[in-house]
Amino acid sequence: MATQPIGKKTACVIGGTGFVASLLVKLLLQKGYAVNTTARDPGNPKKISHLVALQEIGDLKIFKADLTDEGSFDAPIAGCDLVFHVATPVNFASEDPENDMIKPAIQGTLSVLKACVKAKTKRVVVTSSAAAVSINQLNGTGLVMDEKNWTDTELLTTQKPPTWGYPLSKTLAEQAAWKFAEENNIDLITVIPSLMTGPSLTPDVPSSIGLAMSLITGNEFLINGMKGMQMLSGSISISHVEDVCRAHIFVAEKESASGRYICCAVNTGVPELAKFLSKRYPQYKVPTDFGDFPSKAKLIISSEKLIKEGFSFKYGIEDIYDQSVEYLKAKGVLQN
Ligand SMILES: NC(=O)c1ccc[n+]([C@@H]2O[C@H](COP(=O)([O-])OP(=O)(O)OC[C@H]3O[C@@H](n4cnc5c(N)ncnc54)[C@H](OP(=O)(O)O)[C@@H]3O)[C@@H](O)[C@H]2O)c1
Repeated sequence: MATQPIGKKTACVIGGTGFVASLLVKLLLQKGYAVNTTARDPGNPKKISHLVALQEIGDLKIFKADLTDEGSFDAPIAGCDLVFHVATPVNFASEDPENDMIKPAIQGTLSVLKACVKAKTKRVVVTSSAAAVSINQLNGTGLVMDEKNWTDTELLTTQKPPTWGYPLSKTLAEQAAWKFAEENNIDLITVIPSLMTGPSLTPDVPSSIGLAMSLITGNEFLINGMKGMQMLSGSISISHVEDVCRAHIFVAEKESASGRYICCAVNTGVPELAKFLSKRYPQYKVPTDFGDFPSKAKLIISSEKLIKEGFSFKYGIEDIYDQSVEYLKAKGVLQN
């Protein structure tokens, strides 16, 4: 017997505790959806306090599920019209990426999709990453990549650049999702976000905000991480987390949407970004001397398909960073 009022749609968000997923849950509740979400450890109040707070604004149920526990997604997905698979194992310091990220990402994605088959879910949106698109042998400048492009998995497995396990896990998990969806007639869409920052609901500051804000916080290790990212993928590509969540809901609701959708507001390079930040926030002593490190992006990942579908970005680079600075001030990470 259905427990939802007639007309009220139910969405499931896999991995609700995360930076992106917790905001997605909030936006869905604000739109009037009933939401089921999953957490690995729903008994740990410290990990789910921000989700419990969201229960004030709507009908939110929290289920226990793990990407490595086949079958654990059946209960949260049963009866849902839409499923958003956002969770992924992230461990950049891993010495065993195969077991820490690659296997659980693929196995977990398939486990979620199998539950969707059982539940006859109308549409499934999987969160991929720009890291599944842009990592290739990049010759020249002025390059543009779109949804047709895939990261070169052979390059990652043979050259093993720093943090190679994460982009490999995202690429192989997305490819596995497409194969399974075709074989099982699932209406699948993937959203391919760039690096995200912006205010977070999570108790701790997410690692991607730490990375995106490193030029302002002066974290040398993460600034080098940004430079590494630019060398590997040809650009620093950034979006506001809220726009990425809005894009998830947009493609889920848009009947005509299909396939992959890149979601990226800004493509830049570390020195160019540093120049902008130094001028906008002179109080934070942003470094601006990067020697002969390439100033601009040599590669643009294009969101044209998403925009042509009717989506518009709410936040440009100024808002993205203004809101992230305010967020880090509120968290006590940055001073005035
Ligand atoms: N943040 C970015 O800049 C960025 C950029 C491009 C793409 N993405 C993609 O966007 C999605 C969300 O990223 P995020 O930044 O929000 O990540 P996050 O804050 O690190 O959250 C990751 C989520 O995955 C869950 N998870 C990890 N291992 C799991 C497992 N074995 N079983 C069940 N859940 C597991 C975590 O749950 P627990 O709380 O239980 O640990 C957490 O909810 C990911 O697919 C990521 O690849 C992110």
